[in-house]
Amino acid sequence: MSVRRLFAEQPAAFAFSAENEAWAKATIANYPPGKGASAVIPLLWRAQEQHGGWLPEPAMRLVADMLGMAYIRVYEIATFYTMFQLSPVGKKAHVWVCGTTPCMLRGAEALVAVCKRRISEEPHSLSKDGNFTWEEVECLGVCANAPMVQIGRDTYEDLTPELLEKVLDGYAAGNPPQAGSQIGRQASCPAGGPTTLIDFAKADFTKARK
Ligand code: FES
Repeated sequence: MSVRRLFAEQPAAFAFSAENEAWAKATIANYPPGKGASAVIPLLWRAQEQHGGWLPEPAMRLVADMLGMAYIRVYEIATFYTMFQLSPVGKKAHVWVCGTTPCMLRGAEALVAVCKRRISEEPHSLSKDGNFTWEEVECLGVCANAPMVQIGRDTYEDLTPELLEKVLDGYAAGNPPQAGSQIGRQASCPAGGPTTLIDFAKADFTKARK
């Protein structure tokens, strides 16, 4: 994991669009009076989405002001969670590659190698065309379908290097593949089909009721 510092070049100001501001106010209102700070993560995420996928420092201050929080508390949150990007990301995709144990045991290193070759040797560095960035992160909560990556709000699971190439090809062409398992399994069901309750359909439950 890399050092997470604010980007040297920051915009002078940040303001939510009218639509996002209305959404932010409605989100804050979901929390009890005095507990608005609980909305900090969704507000920062919305600001990041509005700002092309990375979170500028003026947006952190705006969110802090909206929630009545000290700036340092919002900086702490934004610099702690890898869901927040502190520098410009690829125009088409930023790829979070999970490198925690289950994904690592199932081939995450080979996925990182694809990112290094196709995007850039170093994480958080723009690809030559400016369309992609990548980084390795800790568990993204899809361990049963390891190895996996997240792009935007979607996860791509059960990956091999070849399947990740296809995912990246889809983003490059502006036609991302369907999220989820890339080998067609349903959710995290056993890859080779059911292994339990396989006689369920043949079971005669009338006997059990007698
Ligand atoms: S270890 Fe990769 S998603 Fe949990």
